[in-house]
Amino acid sequence: MFIKKTFVALSSVATATIVIWSLGCAKMDMTTTTAPVNIIEGIFDTPLLIPTVLNPQNLVLEAKTTPATWLQGKISPNTQLFNGSLPVIRANQGDRVNIDLKNSLTEATNIHWHGMLIPALMDGHPKDIAAAGAQRNYNFAINQRAATTWFHPHPHMATGKQVFNGLAGMFIVNDAIETALNLPSGEREVPLVISDKRFNADGSLHYAPTMAEVMTGYFGDKSLINNVVAPFLNVKTRFYRFRAVNASNARIYDLALSNGANLIIIGNDGGLLEKPVSLTHALLSPGERLDILIDFSKMSVGTEAFLQSNANSIANHGATTFKMLKFKVNAAENETFSLPTTLSTITPISISDSKRNRAFALPAAHAMTGGAMHTGMHTINGKAYDMNRIDETVTAGDTEIWEIDNSVGDEPHPMHLHGVQFQVLEKTGGTIQPYEKGWKDTILIQKAEKVKIIVRFPTEKGVFLMHCHNLEHEDDGMMMNFEIK
Ligand code: C2O
Ligand code: CU
Ligand code: CU
Repeated sequence: MFIKKTFVALSSVATATIVIWSLGCAKMDMTTTTAPVNIIEGIFDTPLLIPTVLNPQNLVLEAKTTPATWLQGKISPNTQLFNGSLPVIRANQGDRVNIDLKNSLTEATNIHWHGMLIPALMDGHPKDIAAAGAQRNYNFAINQRAATTWFHPHPHMATGKQVFNGLAGMFIVNDAIETALNLPSGEREVPLVISDKRFNADGSLHYAPTMAEVMTGYFGDKSLINNVVAPFLNVKTRFYRFRAVNASNARIYDLALSNGANLIIIGNDGGLLEKPVSLTHALLSPGERLDILIDFSKMSVGTEAFLQSNANSIANHGATTFKMLKFKVNAAENETFSLPTTLSTITPISISDSKRNRAFALPAAHAMTGGAMHTGMHTINGKAYDMNRIDETVTAGDTEIWEIDNSVGDEPHPMHLHGVQFQVLEKTGGTIQPYEKGWKDTILIQKAEKVKIIVRFPTEKGVFLMHCHNLEHEDDGMMMNFEIK
């Protein structure tokens, strides 16, 4: 009896929600953008989690619902993690990767190796999934320069939920050129997996985007690094290397230090830049990576400084500045490292190599209004994603220029290509930042911007994706297949 009553109560709640939702859809006016959820700063009394580094030569990654403590004293039963934690994998150029994904979830999942140059069948396309209870093997060689890459599930229309619930990790590729630079290593090389999350009062994760949140993307009200809300890190008076990935569903960060000290950017998605660039702040949109040095040798013992996200018209959707990670300079140590003037060689892909130009129109604000349907409001060239449709066919090994046009859109879109690292040629209506030079796989395209990239496609055939890495936009259809033939 009791069970039956509970069931009835739940299903009437569900019905009520559906009714409200369809009313909301009919009435929604998308020209007035909803304010994003702001971050409520924590107290920075929990040490930053430093993940154990795994070797990918014979690794099992189990995707599993794992009760976890995100908020102190509260257990979140709906957390989904790889191996119960936040895995960081490290391998060398030339190594062979052999990883078994064990799907212990009650739904399909897979792993996409974001930033890796690997065969299409290993890439984690939404058609290549492991059903609930099944396994899937990933076996590939690492044929690329040193880089900070990452991985996450890519199941059809469920990427946003699974990444929000915790399924993600970092994959670091090393090579001889990078090693020769003697960059800070060991405890002074720190992965920063950045996210924002929202919780229910009982401490469980709350992922339930409304119609308006599908438009902006889903924001959390807690800022996390390496799955820890408001962490701190003790540092010595030396240089530290931070490999940052924005693993948030939608939030764009404008990274800065609270004391105004410089971020020394040495790399981005596809590895090292040509030269270090010192900046007071740098944007990091979902999917992108930044390899950052911070020089604590200029700060005295006892100093506290924060990594923060500055408020501006793009980051945080224009919301407030908030702190993300507290550094406590707690020990003096002699620094022997000196910043190299040159980091790597980046050969520009020549425009004259391009065989073809393609144009991609991102949705206009008005195109996403008034629809009664929840899905498919986000499109590329007017089309919402269809897993079985090939949208573009590219000749294997060809170089092309792709122009992605957000000039009539009213949302920023971090656009990402699988299977390649490209170069940014031009931003009409904007500036190519120094940290957007070199090799990229994800590029932020702001409102009113048109971005031209040059891409040398792989010689191996197969189907890859281009999509917006705002995961609500992606799950809502802002994705397309390109086939290399
Ligand atoms: Cu990290 Cu298809 O994306
Ligand atoms: Cu990717
Ligand atoms: Cu988008």
